[in-house]
Amino acid sequence: MNGTPIAFWYRSVQDDDLEAILHIQAENYPREMQESPDVIAERIAAARDTSLVTLNSQGVCAYLFAYHSLLGRVTPLDGKFSIASKPDSLYLHDLAVSRQSTGLGIGRTLVNVAFELARMRGISHSALIAVQRSSTFWGHLGFRVYNGLDADSELMLRTYPGNPCYMVKALLS
Ligand SMILES: CC(C)(COP(=O)(O)OP(=O)(O)OC[C@H]1O[C@@H](n2cnc3c(N)ncnc32)[C@H](O)[C@@H]1OP(=O)(O)O)[C@@H](O)C(=O)NCCC(=O)NCCS
Repeated sequence: MNGTPIAFWYRSVQDDDLEAILHIQAENYPREMQESPDVIAERIAAARDTSLVTLNSQGVCAYLFAYHSLLGRVTPLDGKFSIASKPDSLYLHDLAVSRQSTGLGIGRTLVNVAFELARMRGISHSALIAVQRSSTFWGHLGFRVYNGLDADSELMLRTYPGNPCYMVKALLS
């Protein structure tokens, strides 16, 4: 590093981000957690006004898939988004940062940009499933574990390997 500042940009996800997103996904998740290109392409189309990417001088280096939902609802792994017409929460389905760009504050900033957009839209909460021991990262962002899921959502939660946990954060005070 020669002291030159590193610049990042944030924008809504676009159709032609698919290849970069698949690459970042492959870097970050084991085979059993990889979601299919068709499903991801559908997500870009379904949730482009709530999902974001970060770019550096080389292109897309992080993505966040998020959509308007209801508290207590869970998207199964590789499942379709069910977007709520009267949402109370921003569901963060997947956040991943390219290996080269981790530890630079990109993940935290991407999530905070999504929170600001949600607040402007009057969305009161955010929720997610923490996987791959990421609950500490989410805890730093104000999320707390919620254990009151109904039986259907518990089944959806169990589509994720390891010890997935459902977490919630208030966005509006
Ligand atoms: C988890 C992930 C999104 C973090 O992104 P990042 O840009 O590297 O994180 P940031 O640089 O914004 O770090 C923000 C803070 O979280 C901490 N942190 C980062 N990754 C962490 C992790 N896996 N566990 C615990 N803390 C973590 C950082 O040290 C930093 O702490 P600070 O606020 O005290 O400085 C990224 O490592 C990643 O893509 N992981 C693989 C995919 C994944 O598991 N995503 C979560 C799905 S639920």
